Amino acid sequence: METHPFPLRLHVQLGERSYPIIIGSEVLEGASEHLRALQPSQVVLITHPQLAEWYGEPLRQRMEQTGIPTYLLTIPPGERTKRWEVAGRLLRQMAQLTLDRRCIVAALGGGVIGDLGGFVAACYLRGVRYVQIPTTLLAQVDSSVGGKTGVNLPEGKNLVGAFHQPVLVLIDIDTLKTLPRRHFRAGLAEVLKYGIIADETLWRLVNAEAHNLRQGDSAHLAEIIYRCCEIKANIVSEDETEQGVRATLNFGHTVAHALEAVAGYGRLLHGEAVSIGMVCAALVGELTGVTPVGTAEEIARALRALGLPVALPRGVEFDDLLAVMARDKKARDGQVRFVLIERIGQARLPIAVNEKEVRHALGMHREKFLWGAM
Ligand code: NAD
Ligand code: GLY
Repeated sequence: METHPFPLRLHVQLGERSYPIIIGSEVLEGASEHLRALQPSQVVLITHPQLAEWYGEPLRQRMEQTGIPTYLLTIPPGERTKRWEVAGRLLRQMAQLTLDRRCIVAALGGGVIGDLGGFVAACYLRGVRYVQIPTTLLAQVDSSVGGKTGVNLPEGKNLVGAFHQPVLVLIDIDTLKTLPRRHFRAGLAEVLKYGIIADETLWRLVNAEAHNLRQGDSAHLAEIIYRCCEIKANIVSEDETEQGVRATLNFGHTVAHALEAVAGYGRLLHGEAVSIGMVCAALVGELTGVTPVGTAEEIARALRALGLPVALPRGVEFDDLLAVMARDKKARDGQVRFVLIERIGQARLPIAVNEKEVRHALGMHREKFLWGAM
């Protein structure tokens, strides 16, 4: 894999809505300059209390030095925060601050903050600009790029939302030093996903670096994040609203989203659910003859080496999973759809899979990989 000088820069190419992704060390120190260059009337930083103390307040102070009024709004951490009522509260706070159409929302945090902050930006005054400043590995390699914003409903993940692209993504890999190990590993599931769906070289690099990555670091980390963002930027540039190739990014997500909803939001981390879901999807692929037999085992081995779960959580009923899958955004006419892989490095567009095959795959999953703790 090529090496790149720091900081690394990529572009999501979407005509007048194109935007840069800047990746490197100490990127947060320069964030106020990047924000100032966008000439906002005001800036509102949305984050969690702990992140506000470490990263948000210093950034707010640097913004104030540029003369741009900057406010910090905090919400509690956790997937359960990504809901309608919290978005409503944030919108009211923004209105009370009399933020105008030229304001910028800066989402400083993981995927929860990014999805919620982006959603609030999409709704406020019918849409204002926002900047993603992702601080988890998952958000740095996936959720901060591409403009999918939204909230969960009790009925399912991300059922309410909007496509609303950020105007800038600032990725400071130093922030990962404070990220708890479990969350870092959860992000590795999405990293491996890119290798599985689009890039065998990345798959090999992640496997070779598994020991270091599992411990939360690797000399190749910036390069790995860059490559993931590059794959995502290319896919989003080609298919912004998921009419085709973008759907391949959902590999493992049919089961993952159902697991998250059935287990209760927050019990399984999103990346952990994706880890289990990718093994299920590989089994569905093997059963339908799309994926070479043995691939699920190979993927499970790689995920375990990264410290990720692969077994279905104990107590989760197949009937409940299937009911949620039928309501998933990817479902059509009540038929569950799966992204399958033809081999490591090559995904296929989603296909409908009948309930019998899904049950069969879930049964095989339980037999091969047993039940996991939750
Ligand atoms: P998260 O946002 O809940 O963050 C995980 C935890 O880490 C939180 O407690 C947070 O406070 C803490 N944290 C964040 N940065 C930290 C840091 N630098 N140091 C210490 N603690 C830190 O979880 P996540 O895994 O980042 O995101 C999951 C969400 O992302 C899910 O809701 C998922 O649906 C969404 N997602 C969205 C997309 C998309 O395209 N929009 C893609 C993938 C996932
Ligand atoms: N995380 C899937 C997407 O952005 O399309």
